[in-house]
Amino acid sequence: MHARWPRLDGIAYGGEYNPEQWPEDVWEQDVALMHEAGVTLVSVGIFSWGMLEPRPGEYEFGWLDKVLGLLHDAGIAVDLGTPTAAPPPWFLHRHPDARPVTRDGLVLGGGSRQAYCPSSPAYAAAAAGITRELARRYASHPAVVLWHVNNEYGAPLGECYCATSAAAFRSWLRDRYGDLETLNDHWGATFWSQRYGDWAEIDVPRTSTTVVNPAQRLDFARFSSNALLDCFRRERDILHELSPGIPVTTNFMANNCKSVDYWRWAPEVDVISNDNYLTAEDPEGYLGLAMSADLTRSLAGGGPWLLMEHSTSAVSWQPRNLAKQPGEMRRNSLAHLARGADGLLFFQWRAGRFGAEKHHSAMLPQGGTGTRVWRDVVGLGAELATLAGLRGTVVEPDLALLWDWESWWAQELEWRPSVDLTYLERVRAWYEATFRGGLTADFAHPEADLSRYRLVIVPALYLATEQAAANLRRYVEGGGTLVVSCFSGIVDADDRVYLGPYPGALRDVLGLTVEEWRPLRAGEHVTLTWEEPGLPADATALSQVSTVARFASAAEPTGTADAWTEAVVLAGAKPVAWYADGPAAGGPAVTRYDLGEGHAWYVSARTDAATTAAVLAAACESASLAPPARPVPTAGDGWPAAGSWPRDLEIVRRTDGRRRYTVLINHGQTPVTVQLPARIVTIQPGDAEVLAE
Ligand code: GLA
Ligand code: GLA
Repeated sequence: MHARWPRLDGIAYGGEYNPEQWPEDVWEQDVALMHEAGVTLVSVGIFSWGMLEPRPGEYEFGWLDKVLGLLHDAGIAVDLGTPTAAPPPWFLHRHPDARPVTRDGLVLGGGSRQAYCPSSPAYAAAAAGITRELARRYASHPAVVLWHVNNEYGAPLGECYCATSAAAFRSWLRDRYGDLETLNDHWGATFWSQRYGDWAEIDVPRTSTTVVNPAQRLDFARFSSNALLDCFRRERDILHELSPGIPVTTNFMANNCKSVDYWRWAPEVDVISNDNYLTAEDPEGYLGLAMSADLTRSLAGGGPWLLMEHSTSAVSWQPRNLAKQPGEMRRNSLAHLARGADGLLFFQWRAGRFGAEKHHSAMLPQGGTGTRVWRDVVGLGAELATLAGLRGTVVEPDLALLWDWESWWAQELEWRPSVDLTYLERVRAWYEATFRGGLTADFAHPEADLSRYRLVIVPALYLATEQAAANLRRYVEGGGTLVVSCFSGIVDADDRVYLGPYPGALRDVLGLTVEEWRPLRAGEHVTLTWEEPGLPADATALSQVSTVARFASAAEPTGTADAWTEAVVLAGAKPVAWYADGPAAGGPAVTRYDLGEGHAWYVSARTDAATTAAVLAAACESASLAPPARPVPTAGDGWPAAGSWPRDLEIVRRTDGRRRYTVLINHGQTPVTVQLPARIVTIQPGDAEVLAE
């Protein structure tokens, strides 16, 4: 990564600006209001291709010259878009072959955006053309501090199944495997008679009669992520060449984008930026926000990143677009800031009059400046101006969760042992346990160096490479504490089961095998107990680790799980909790293996939130990991036990080694008091504070 931050002071603030949707006399008013709101950075031109190149090869830059001039005169910096996410009507009219095709064979029409085949040579030429013209014209425009390539690659279209894509897929496979024998081997081609004798026989994995070869599906997912990355690289290289010194970004969607493997993208991008929208109906949407921000920071290698888009209030594309509650937009903004964002932008500056997104919230709503949203936008701008000191500080993580797009793809192909065991569900469950425990999580690739973390959680790693398995073993032997959740370590990069008992890749590091998976019926629950079945429940019957877990679960003797259980056979690991009933009754449910200098915990069921939290607390104990502040029980507030973290209090710290900023956000309904190293502070319900030490 080039890791070049745009020339911007303090915490950047602003939004996506679409002046092309408005007559010129509105522009001056816009700029004056931006000034009032404390806006310092706007994205411009992201969907302007048709206005910049109305006919192929004919350019009209006059209006953009004026807009950039106005913004620059007002001291507002520009993130200038290449408009290649929305080719104008002339493009598909001239190049009908560039229309994307879905897996079901549907040829998609225009009139929307992202309607092009990523492998289309015509698209490549047209996108390069407009990018080159823009780069030439604005390479050293004083307002431009950042280039914004395309928009949300991978959404709404991640894959294309047209003939051009099929040819590109074949050529990608040739590069990957060299010869057909190797490909046949990796794809397990003896199954269902899928042996290929000629490259021309290979097709994209379009919808067929029933399940299509999973190895072929996985390779196509890799190919598709890479085809989009090639689109990005093409424009980035032009911008680097013609506009040196101005960094290049493209907006990610972190944990909300399945089709793009951002671990592979991140090193190619100068500035990591992200878009995040709450699921409006989720009362705990702030958890998804925090996950998205932590994943983005991790993609940025722990360095600064830009929140390219979020919303001041409602979006317009969910089934029920709830408005944000009073204070929610400020809490959301400070949460992104806490988790490493050095700039906060909204979609969009001014609410639109027409088009698909006219009912989407904006910094300047349909109701104008007399609205709560506008007052909050102005208030946030003023507050961010006082927080300029956070710029350049870095987040202090407590632990890491492994995250892997390839495993996500593989786990959610068809014909798995249970449809209930999905990737994001387990990642969010374990992430939530860390958040509610007052801990800050990084996300890490399974093969990344983990030595800086005292605790690493593997929430879902169905596909685990041998390198990942060796990495985890090295981590534990070196003194790390590892927590692995069920159905991990099962297959290799080709979705081939590791030979021998489950969990093939991880049985060594966990000190156990799994004789059989025992998935549950829909709605069925089983009981987990911290006391060994069949033994008297006195102290001598409890193993030491079991006591730790029992203590950590606030003395609850049992937990529950649904969807998934396993018949675990110990091979060195000690049992911590057992199945009291269900199809694995009597067997170990949670285990701990002491290996080298470290410990490896295994959770063989889809545990409920309290049980997941109890296991995490026990693992934290074994890793000597505690939240960075201590909650102070106040009369009648009812915190369950000393040492447990208030579940609705978000805490994140940023530091530059000299100064530390602690961000505290109270998402709950009651005041919360915590003891920081230097002071005691109470955060009111719905409030947030940034404390400098
Ligand atoms: C059918 C098919 C078999 C196999 C089984 C699996 O019976 O004939 O090839 O797919 O289902 O249950
Ligand atoms: C995405 C897109 C924007 C806009 C917003 C609306 O993030 O990048 O262009 O459509 O969603 O929420």
